[in-house]
Amino acid sequence: MSEEKKLFKVTIDNITIDVEPGTTVLNAARQIGGDVTPPAMCYYSKLQGSGGKCRTCLVEVAAGSTADPRPMPKLVASCRTNVMDGMIVKNITSEKVIDARNGVVEFLLINHPLDCPICDQAGECDLQDLGYSHGKEGTRYEFKRRTFEREDIGPYIQLHMTRCILCYRCTYVADQITNTRVHGILDRGDHAEISTYISKAIDNDFSGNMIDVCPVGALTDKTFRFKNRVWFTKPVDAHRDCSTCCGKVTLWQRGDEVLRVTARKDQWNEVQNYDGKPGWICNTCRFDKKKTSDWVIDGLTNISRHSVISQGKYPGLVRPHEMLADVMGGREPKLLMDIHDVSEVNDPSVDLSLIEGPATSKDFEKK
Ligand code: SF4
Ligand code: FES
Repeated sequence: MSEEKKLFKVTIDNITIDVEPGTTVLNAARQIGGDVTPPAMCYYSKLQGSGGKCRTCLVEVAAGSTADPRPMPKLVASCRTNVMDGMIVKNITSEKVIDARNGVVEFLLINHPLDCPICDQAGECDLQDLGYSHGKEGTRYEFKRRTFEREDIGPYIQLHMTRCILCYRCTYVADQITNTRVHGILDRGDHAEISTYISKAIDNDFSGNMIDVCPVGALTDKTFRFKNRVWFTKPVDAHRDCSTCCGKVTLWQRGDEVLRVTARKDQWNEVQNYDGKPGWICNTCRFDKKKTSDWVIDGLTNISRHSVISQGKYPGLVRPHEMLADVMGGREPKLLMDIHDVSEVNDPSVDLSLIEGPATSKDFEKK
């Protein structure tokens, strides 16, 4: 007779659920979902050993367990703390947690530049979101911020070390899903940096996934850099038969042009699972298949309505109701102007994804 597994009861922000022993507080909170879930800048459920670096996921344990209901003396990292039966946890209901999280964000922003207006990650950056929810208006830091030269790591990835928060996710990707790891965190303390040893190129088949796991704009896709703001692109789910990876991706399009290809992400901004395995994608799908004809389109990507990326998009496959006739009392417009007829730039015949580096006005000059 199979013995029924005993589940642990855990209460997070006054919501009680039953979870399997061995579940972390963070994953228990993810099962509840919504605001109860602490933010996680370094933990990534598909990467073994991740977590414990950034401290954004701190929570208060108000009661350790039914057997020992004493509170834990300090806030704990929820991604590294397992639940106990009868544990009571406070996240957004704890002033101490909110205060500590504000402090952690202030620390993360000590060296991170506020260059969101020119950063490719803007609009889908976890640190930008945290900055909005927990950041301060100013900085108390009086010293020089550390800065680094930009570094090409391999043919497709550029590293802006100045933006890195040392979450280690990219090193775990290289360790766990590529054949060789040639980069890592060099030095310690204020000198710590991500780098390749003697600038050795990273050119294995799955290296592009490092871009997807980077929670900030430190690792950017060289084929997409400065091509467009993410909220102006339209994400579409697509697939192709690929012998190397699952072939299931999101295409980020402007019109019919594919500006960028990424893995599909779940609600925690992590790569989605397929058949129980993470849907990492290979570099061929990511960097070499930039035509819609390379793909079978599955439909529009569902983007959370809280995300800036959802601006001007529509959920599911239903096209939005055409408002023009409504606002004009049922009449058709006499004249519709096409911005491309009157503008020198933004010419749709120029394929942005084929331009090397950032597009400039030279790319739009009439030949
Ligand atoms: S480059 Fe990005 S993924 Fe790598 S450690 Fe820095 S912040 Fe994390
Ligand atoms: S997500 Fe827990 S310490 Fe970073």
